[in-house]
Amino acid sequence: MGLLRARGKVYKPVKDVDIGKNSSEPYTPADVKAPRVAGILVKIFVWILESWILGPIAVHILKRDNRIHKFVSNAEIPEPPLFTPIHASKDHTEQEISPINLDSSPIERVQEAINCLSTDTESGLCQQTSTFRRWTIRDYSRAYNSKETTPLEVAKRFLAAVKNSSGPNLKMAFFINYNEEDIIRQAKESTVRYEKGIPISVLDGILVAVKDEMDCMPYPTTGGTKWLHKVRQCTDDAICVKQLRSCGAILVGKTNMHELGAGTSGINPHYGACRNPYNINKVSGGSSSGSAAVVCAGLCPVALGVDGGGSVRMPAALCGVVGFKPTAGRISNSGVLPLNWTVGMPGILAATVEDALITFAAVCNPFPLNQPKFTQPDLSFPLLTSSQSLANIKFAKYEEWFNDSTEDIRNCCDHTLKMLCRNYGWKTVEVTVPEIEEMRLAHYVTIASECTTSLGPHLEKLKSAQIGWDARIGLRVYSSFDSKEYLNAQRIRNRQMQLHQEIFKAADVIVTPTTGVTAYSLQDDALDTGELDYINGAALVRYSISGNFLGLPAVTIMIGCDKGGMPIGLQFIGKPWSEATLLHLANALQELCIGSYPKPKVFFNLLKKE
Ligand SMILES: *[C@@H]1O[C@H](CO)[C@@H](O)[C@H](O)[C@H]1NC(C)=O
Ligand SMILES: *[C@@H]1O[C@H](CO)[C@@H](O)[C@H](O)[C@H]1NC(C)=O
Repeated sequence: MGLLRARGKVYKPVKDVDIGKNSSEPYTPADVKAPRVAGILVKIFVWILESWILGPIAVHILKRDNRIHKFVSNAEIPEPPLFTPIHASKDHTEQEISPINLDSSPIERVQEAINCLSTDTESGLCQQTSTFRRWTIRDYSRAYNSKETTPLEVAKRFLAAVKNSSGPNLKMAFFINYNEEDIIRQAKESTVRYEKGIPISVLDGILVAVKDEMDCMPYPTTGGTKWLHKVRQCTDDAICVKQLRSCGAILVGKTNMHELGAGTSGINPHYGACRNPYNINKVSGGSSSGSAAVVCAGLCPVALGVDGGGSVRMPAALCGVVGFKPTAGRISNSGVLPLNWTVGMPGILAATVEDALITFAAVCNPFPLNQPKFTQPDLSFPLLTSSQSLANIKFAKYEEWFNDSTEDIRNCCDHTLKMLCRNYGWKTVEVTVPEIEEMRLAHYVTIASECTTSLGPHLEKLKSAQIGWDARIGLRVYSSFDSKEYLNAQRIRNRQMQLHQEIFKAADVIVTPTTGVTAYSLQDDALDTGELDYINGAALVRYSISGNFLGLPAVTIMIGCDKGGMPIGLQFIGKPWSEATLLHLANALQELCIGSYPKPKVFFNLLKKE
């Protein structure tokens, strides 16, 4: 295949790469050479890829045309590999924070989080007619404490709403699994605690949904497939689910997801396409599709997702909710399907930053790494009452990258960032983030190799008819990478880690749009086969990768809508362990924008107080 061999890029030593505004490093836009395919074309494509003779050639051409050979496989890279994005400790100080005792329990931490919030009781949701806001954890908790309603009543409304949403008119496909009896039992127990005046925490009686990639009793963990739960039993809650349960939360079921997390549309051929509550003819994004959609639709104030390549932030942005992915290791991966080892971790989807903080308090892991206590990064929560006093915040912005999005996104993000800086006296610093496209491809090689290695023993025993068509294509490309490609990808990881350390010397956070496109149309031909749309896919993950490949914390906030009324998100990417600052900035941003959020077309008011 000599003719097909693409020459590799020769990388210069990373210390010679300039991250300044006037750097000579080029911006390389993603140039995806793969047409959208769905329906019968997907099946033909599967046939080609799975054929003994044509398959390897087709995969080779795909990898060559999409620059994987040039940037990864055949590249010359001076740096050694870096395999895991571990950040040992915090090397910066944060403003306006409350330090948290590492030995505290989830219940104590939730109380600490509440102490960081302003006490003004009417945080003014839907009551004031014109502006739309979703009910928060504290709204539910107040309503339970004041006996306005009970967890049992809310649970019953929830069940009615889920039935309504999955009926023939809406077909939202929010959940893969939920169990009425189990939900009612938990709600009754919580109701009794409120009757006795002994709720466990502010999370007592709060409905929380969990992506079907994370163990949560009594449900099987399908990973969006028809087979994974048959070869891997779920016998206990994932650690973060356990932590929420210990605070009194009601676990309401397993949300829909892209099959194996191996795609970005949230169209699942087995359990239905998860639709966007803002417009049911649009996708919800993936892979934590259902978790974003249920929060958007008002079914739960928070949900858990898993983020391996933007899988929490992307659907959050497309559905107009908060998506928060802490530093790698800050939430335990135990009880999460091991679809990959070094890029994925749980994240939080919430209606508000306040709720993201409360949930973070419950599920965070004070001792993230397998390290002795004295090298642990400390843990702190933001004093959300004091955004005005955060001084000298600097946002790193790489304009060419920032602008590589649709016109509506570009304008809205640009305008909102200016408004934020003006309002708080903060600054933007122009930087260059080199080798972004190289990083996207290196991340792809990594997640693909890890996923197929991890699932390998199961996949071999499986009849391919049990796997969705689009996932079959994904798995073919996924399984094509060799050790040289994997190692080169880790050398790119090493470079990016160093480059980002330089950028963070100049700024507190990196600011980007969350996605390059907003939610796109759900086409009928994709419903049974799924679709391959690598062009939209690349635009959706354009700004997500460093959060996963480098384990950096990141958060997305809805800041407005495009001309078609679909949500737009702005993302902050933070220094390792700077969750407190990120949430602080996110809260300041949300305060500026929340008053203009439109109400989704599909929305359920479970507190009945209109
Ligand atoms: C990688 O793992 C994370 C978390 O386990 C998950 O969200 C993501 O979908 C996975 N991605 C792939 C492609 O396996
Ligand atoms: C980026 O977009 C903004 C807003 O649309 C515009 O003002 C600016 O000139 C653009 N910059 C570049 C380098 O294209």
